Amino acid sequence: MAINWDEIRDQAVKWANEAGDVIRESFEKELTVETKSNADDLVTNMDREVEEYLINQIKETHPEHQILGEEGVGEEVTSLEGTVWIIDPIDGTMNFVHQQTNFAISIGVYHEGVGMVGVIYNVIYDEMFHAVKGKGAYLNNVKLPDLEEVPIEKSIIAINATWITRNKRIDPARLIPVVDRCRGTRSYGSAAIELAFVAAGRLDAYITMRLSPWDFAAGKVLIEEVGGRVTNLDGDPLDMLGRNSIFAGKADLHQLILDEYLSND
Ligand code: IPD
Ligand code: CA
Ligand code: CA
Repeated sequence: MAINWDEIRDQAVKWANEAGDVIRESFEKELTVETKSNADDLVTNMDREVEEYLINQIKETHPEHQILGEEGVGEEVTSLEGTVWIIDPIDGTMNFVHQQTNFAISIGVYHEGVGMVGVIYNVIYDEMFHAVKGKGAYLNNVKLPDLEEVPIEKSIIAINATWITRNKRIDPARLIPVVDRCRGTRSYGSAAIELAFVAAGRLDAYITMRLSPWDFAAGKVLIEEVGGRVTNLDGDPLDMLGRNSIFAGKADLHQLILDEYLSND
């Protein structure tokens, strides 16, 4: 039987909204903050609670689907066969802890490796970005227009200061000229929000060196629905089960930056 992707989108939107309520209510309660891989890698009781909430809804409705979640509440996913939900319960945990704003719930649904549904909920702004493959992307009930090309001199690029100073992953000398030439840079501290903003035309591109599938699965669907491109920094397709560098943006700007600044030839 053919899968009804509109229905899956409606479910993802509903559960993201409900998870948003759970998060908003948590502001009244005390938060438990722990660290994961290092002192700046934060996780809270709410990350786990929201992931559990989403996984329970998905499992109850679609017991045959796989679920890849950041906090590992679900099972281990080693293949993209069938339908796979790729979820980040709170993207931007540092913002959630320090600022109580600029964090999002990210839900991507892939089928046989192809992104079919993308939902990003910018909780505090009550902005629901959603898309079904082939049917366009929306912000709440408004269809997002196809991205309009922009010359690099008039572009705003999301990039974290980490990548233009000494770091382990890229020679900053490769990115500094891009930062010099564009109109301005921004960094919101949530990959999902940055990708949703590229889809909405608020940002012209987003460059970062290391994201996991739950950070970009939904954003990739949104951006491709409005004609944008999402690859790694070499311009290659993303590995949906592993970590990747990410370069998302308007198609022509993406090509220009790849050709003039990122390609190794
Ligand atoms: C992080 C955010 C951040 C990005 C990090 C991610 P988390 O996700 O998206 O913007 O720079 O690499 O790990 O841990 O807050 O879900
Ligand atoms: Ca994340
Ligand atoms: Ca997270």
